[in-house]
Parts: sequence; structure tokens; C-alpha cells
Amino acid sequence: MQRKYDFLVIGSGIAGMSYALKVAKAGKVAIICKSELQESNTDLAQGGICCVSNLELDSFEKHIKDTMVAGDWLSDPKAVELVVENAPAQIEELVNWGVDFDRNEKGNFDLHREGGHCEHRILHRADDTGHAIQMALINALKHHPNIDVLEHHFAIELLTQHHLGMEVTRRTPDIECYGAYVLNEATGVIDTYLAKVTMMATGGVGQVYSTTTNPPIATGDGVAMVYRAKGTVKDMEFVQFHPTALYHQGDHQNFLITEAMRGYGGILRNLDGSEFMHRYDPRLSLAPRDITARAIFNEMKINGTDHVLLDVTHKDPEETKHHFPNIYKKCLSIGIDITKQPIPVVPCHHYMCGGILVDYNAQSSINRLYAAGECSCTGLHGGNRLASNSLLEAIVYADLAAKHSIPRIAELTYKEEVPDWIDTGTVPHEELYLISDSKQEVQQIMQTYVGIVRSNLRLKRAWTRLDNLYEETEKLFLRSKVNKDICELRNMINTGYIIMRQAMERKESRGCHYNIDFPPEQRDIKGF
Ligand code: FAD
Ligand code: SIN
Repeated sequence: MQRKYDFLVIGSGIAGMSYALKVAKAGKVAIICKSELQESNTDLAQGGICCVSNLELDSFEKHIKDTMVAGDWLSDPKAVELVVENAPAQIEELVNWGVDFDRNEKGNFDLHREGGHCEHRILHRADDTGHAIQMALINALKHHPNIDVLEHHFAIELLTQHHLGMEVTRRTPDIECYGAYVLNEATGVIDTYLAKVTMMATGGVGQVYSTTTNPPIATGDGVAMVYRAKGTVKDMEFVQFHPTALYHQGDHQNFLITEAMRGYGGILRNLDGSEFMHRYDPRLSLAPRDITARAIFNEMKINGTDHVLLDVTHKDPEETKHHFPNIYKKCLSIGIDITKQPIPVVPCHHYMCGGILVDYNAQSSINRLYAAGECSCTGLHGGNRLASNSLLEAIVYADLAAKHSIPRIAELTYKEEVPDWIDTGTVPHEELYLISDSKQEVQQIMQTYVGIVRSNLRLKRAWTRLDNLYEETEKLFLRSKVNKDICELRNMINTGYIIMRQAMERKESRGCHYNIDFPPEQRDIKGF
């Protein structure tokens, strides 16, 4: 069945929801998400959101420089400027939507500092900033008369000229997006959502790795859909590993121990209590996260351990509980009182710096298709993202997309010729365990061969193994009745493949891409 909306928004994190709220004044909006509205990377963000606020000490220039340094000078200076300079206006929007950032006794924002930042500039709400943002946006969204909220609706494929019978390749000029095929999980029906403008805001790719801070929705769907639609995807080799996820055996989704804890004075130690960061970087525990993650990885290798420690026991216990109430509670639930005992931590997958390539209006290489948030590649992060820059990037680019797309609505039309989804000849898939097995296989391959430290041989292995899975899964997809699990598996394989291919293409170690066959001129870590 065909459904028509001026704006189709795929994803209900900070990028999708803030875009939906802004364009709703210009037309009818559908915002779809594959789970509940709340389940997103946004909801889990702890540290906060960057914004130059204390003008006595800080400046846009300093934030720009920190972003460029963290990105290993691969960031696009114009994108960096756009994000940094638009931050104050977007923070004001968040405050207007009801986000109650913590303030000091003078009523100014209470600012944290994280790795790679030369100043305190992270606005936060205790240690669950993302949740505060997510809930404020959900509240605004649910009361908007022009927005239809569709939970448990899974976007399967983008609609382009391909669906009108035309051959579309990576060289086809003027590819256009007319909306998406969407699976309603409650009914099992796949509807054709026609839209004048589509916004891709599907978030991260964490489920492609076997340990990640990301929630189950993060299977790289947006990137995979755009890639299959022959759109441009860039910088996917830059996978960010967070240095400090809580080490707790058996967890696939790792609870994050915010970097703000190192900004607060937390010290990284080996299991024997010795410090080690002085061997890697003069900024010690406040080095950017790629350097810190590799340092921890190296220490674990040298010492034969499966984690290290993050110690805040020297800090005032009440202050620790005040700043990090959720981390305190979470650790206590597994028997660790962080005011008395160091926290066991381990690096794990956290963030995708690359994604769907967009311009300064958040327009992708496919006409009528915008992308914002973690699934996009704006040029801000370059080789590695500076902490707390991603919530900011998402809201700034959602705003740029809204400003660019609203005036276009009057002249764009629906492509009603797009046919409905055809699934004749497919059968319900009986051996569901094969899909979950394959998902685990993808995660294992990516973790082992395309992880924190890579090599040409490891990448080649990943290629052969992913190729096998790709062949099997495409055959299965063609003969099975479509469900969310098989679509996610397909997207995970596509996303893993792009990461691996782009990692192979980069003949240097740069940012968070580290290949032992291309050692950086001055190795920051000995022993790989
Ligand atoms: P998300 O918030 O992830 O939302 C994605 C949405 O897309 C979801 O609604 C999902 O259901 C939907 N979706 C996905 N696929 C489909 C599909 N096929 N069909 C329909 N819907 C789909 N960044 C910071 O700046 N500061 C921090 O302090 C910070 N802390 C973090 C802590 C953790 C634990 C994690 C995981 C990330 C953190 N980040 C932080 C990163 C940041 O949270 C994310 O990059 C950002 O929230 C991404 O927002 P988004 O809107 O792009 O996507
Ligand atoms: C954290 O709180 O350490 C995460 C911040 C981020 O990912 O930007």
C-alpha cells in the first residue's frame, strides 16, 4: 500500500527527531524507527555535548583546533567551523525543547572536560545527558499535530529510479530518492512510503562488532541502504573504539564509563596498580581516545590481561557520586563501589566516524535524500572524532538539512509509479538460528580482523570470510519472506564489507585506523 508524506524521517535519535520537529511546520512528516522511540545511541550518551560557553577561557578557534587535532588533520575545516560556530544556537534550541543541562551556582552551564579538549566545554546533565535530550525530544514530538510517529517500522530499501525499471549504477548521474519500502513489524506488511524528501538518521554500526557500547538497533542500516542505492559512503575505515567500557565478562553490549571520568581526574592503571599512560602520550589519561584505546590494548597484550583499571578512589566520594550517579549505581550492581575500588575497563567499539557522504546542507549524493547524525559523513570528524562532538554534529546538520529542504517541498512531487514490494515466491524462513549464527560470525570477523589494530593479512581474511557470508545471505534473502532479522544481517554484512574495503584502500595509519603494515612515521605505541 502507498503512503505519502512530505518528509520521511528514518530514525528517532537526536538527528531524526530534531529534523522532524523543524520541518513539521512546512509539511506532513512520518518519523519511523525500528524499535521503540527511545532505543537509540542518543539515549545512551553520557558525557555530554560540546559548546564553547566560557568565553573568558575558551573560543571557537580552540574548539576548532582540538577537533582538527583529534581528527588527525583529516577533518574538513569548513564542516568543523560550521559545527563549532552553530553550537550555541542549537544548544538554545535544546534548552527550549526542555533539556535541563546542569548549571553551577552562578546559573552558568556546568562544564566538563574530556580527552582531546584543551578547555572545559562539555554541557551535560549529570552522566545521562543523552537520556535527557532523548526524552525532551520525544515529548515535543508526541505533541506535534503534523508528525506521525511509527514505532517498530523497519526501513528496508530506498526507492530510486531503479524501482522504475532503470539501471542505476555508481556512475548514474542524478540518482533520486522517492522514499522507502518499510516493514510494519506488527502486521508483517511492507508498505511503500513515498516522500518528497527523505532524511536518513539511522545512527551507528556497533552491532557489526562483538563488543560495543551501542544498542541492538545499531546495525548500519542507513549506510547499507544508501550504498545499495549507489550513493556515496566515505571514511568508514575510521571506526572509533572507546578506551573505557566497563569490563564485565559475557556482556555483548558494554556499559560505557564516560571519558568525563578521566577529565574529572580518573587515572588508568594496570592490574598491579601501576600507571602507564606516560609511556604513550604527554596528556596522560586525557590523551585522545584513539591513542588511549591503543595504549590500553597494548598494555593488555604485554601483561596478558583482559582489562585495565580506571581509578577515582583518590577523589572525594560524595563528589564522585554527585557527578556520576548512574555509573556509581551500575558498578555497585555488579559489586564494585567506585569510591573505594578501581573500575575494570576495556576498550570496545563505540562510534563510526564515516558514513553517508553529505555536503554542507546535509544533502547526500542522492538527490532528495539527506543524512544527519552518526550515519552521515560530514567531514567534521576526519580520522577520529573528538569526544562529545557527535550529538552536536547531529543537531547542527539536522538544522542545516531542515533549512535546505523546507523551501524545496513546494516544487517536489511524489513518484506514484513506484510499484509495491513484490514477494511472490518467497517463503517464511524456518531456520532462524542460521541468521543469528551468521550475525555472530560477522561480529567475530570484524572484531578479530578489522578491530583496533589491523594488518593487510587480517583485512584480506576478513574479505574472504565476509564474501562467503554475503553470498549465502543474498541467496537466503531472495527466497525468504522478509523480516527484520534477515534485513539486519544483510546490512551488517554490507557495512562490514565497506569498513573492510575502505580500510584496505587507506595505505597509511591515520586517526583511528591503525594498520601495522603502514606504521606511522613516529609510532605512538611500541610493540605492535
Ligand atoms: P541514534 O540516536 O542512534 O538513532 C538511530 C535511530 O535510527 C533509532 O531510532 C533507530 O531505531 C533508527 N533506525 C536504525 N535503523 C533503522 C531502520 N532500518 N528502520 C527504521 N529505523 C531505523 N556522543 C556525544 O556527542 N556525547 C556523548 O556523551 C556520547 N556518549 C555516548 C555514549 C554511548 C554509550 C554511545 C553508544 C554513544 C555516545 N555518543 C556520544 C555518540 C552519540 O550518542 C551518537 O553518535 C548519536 O546519539 C547518534 O544520534 P543519531 O540521531 O544519529 O542516531
Ligand atoms: C563519553 O562520555 O565518554 C562518550 C562521549 C562521546 O562519545 O562523545
